[in-house]
Amino acid sequence: MKWKENVSLLPYNTFGIEAHAARFAEYSSEDELREILLSLKKEHPDEPILCVGCGSNLLFTRDYSGTVLHSAMNRFRFRHISEDTTMVYAESGMEWDYLVQVCVDKGFYGLENLSHIPGTVGAAAVQNVGAYGVEAGEFIHEVHCLEIATGQSVTFGSERLRYAYRSSAFKQELKGKYVITQVDFRLSNHFTPRINYGALAKEFCNRKTVEHLTPVHLREVITRIRKGKLPEPSEIGSAGSFFMNPVVSTERFAEIEKRFPDIPHYNTPNGGVKIPAAWLIEQCGWKGKSLGRAGVYEKQALVLVNHGGATGSEIVALSEAIRKDVHDKFGIIIQPEAIFI
Ligand code: EPU
Repeated sequence: MKWKENVSLLPYNTFGIEAHAARFAEYSSEDELREILLSLKKEHPDEPILCVGCGSNLLFTRDYSGTVLHSAMNRFRFRHISEDTTMVYAESGMEWDYLVQVCVDKGFYGLENLSHIPGTVGAAAVQNVGAYGVEAGEFIHEVHCLEIATGQSVTFGSERLRYAYRSSAFKQELKGKYVITQVDFRLSNHFTPRINYGALAKEFCNRKTVEHLTPVHLREVITRIRKGKLPEPSEIGSAGSFFMNPVVSTERFAEIEKRFPDIPHYNTPNGGVKIPAAWLIEQCGWKGKSLGRAGVYEKQALVLVNHGGATGSEIVALSEAIRKDVHDKFGIIIQPEAIFI
């Protein structure tokens, strides 16, 4: 059987929302995926297709009327291409943090700041996961896909994918048209720690520690920081950061700063000013508060949580209440990072 019908998506979303997919199919190879796509085209030509890895960035607001595809392709290969560089070829269903671990263990560097991020390799290439001043897109060389309409193999170079803060062409004009099968990363054979970002800079303010810093230790520190701030999906349902950090113009920021002199901020390379949405939400009094069975995590205000049995609509209602309060107080519209289905 190529697919199952009326399948619960509870194991496929870290928010722990109960929703069902009309059809669900898992594939372990590109050939298997092609066969599924061609059969779906014949038997359910007008129905939508949604690719789901761990569902760590999704919010199901209703049952899904089309087919959910899940990659069980999780092989990994690498090739040293020079003294300095190694290409890593990771299939889309591989768990992201396992990829980071394998790379650190084998001595291929760049991804270590992205330790302990839930999700799969395929989703990371859509979402451009980022943390502690590093984004996956910086290291992505090419992304291999099958076109949903034809089942044909297509490869996109990273320039075509226009990686930006939590964004790529897969979230825009390529959305819903391709299934990612493999991501190729260009990594370094030399470890260059990147520890300037807030929480990491604080951790490593002692220079002696930096001189002896190993990639394994950096990975451990990041894992510890994340575990301290973010809920474990196996214990509390969430989608990590629910909102993106807003970027405003320098003029707009100057006005806001007059009213709120303590506002934390970072200047971006493009000239805008990024403000932590967590701070805005906390200032509105939402940190640790709940609305029905949905809540704001008590250790990180950017994270919305499911306190048990929350529906997607309850999470949406909470997010709308927060967005309204942030807009009323600061005049800033914050946008969800999580994708609503
Ligand atoms: N802050 C608050 N209240 C809070 C938490 C944070 O006021 O409850 C303020 C503090 O000023 C803090 C600042 O926000 O210095 C930044 O906080 P943090 O370093 O925790 O990072 P973030 O901006 O809230 C982003 C990413 C995270 C990533 C961290 C670390 C986004 C949307 N989120 O969060 O990514 O782990 O930086 O790099 O950019 C994710 O995408 O799921 C995710 C967890």
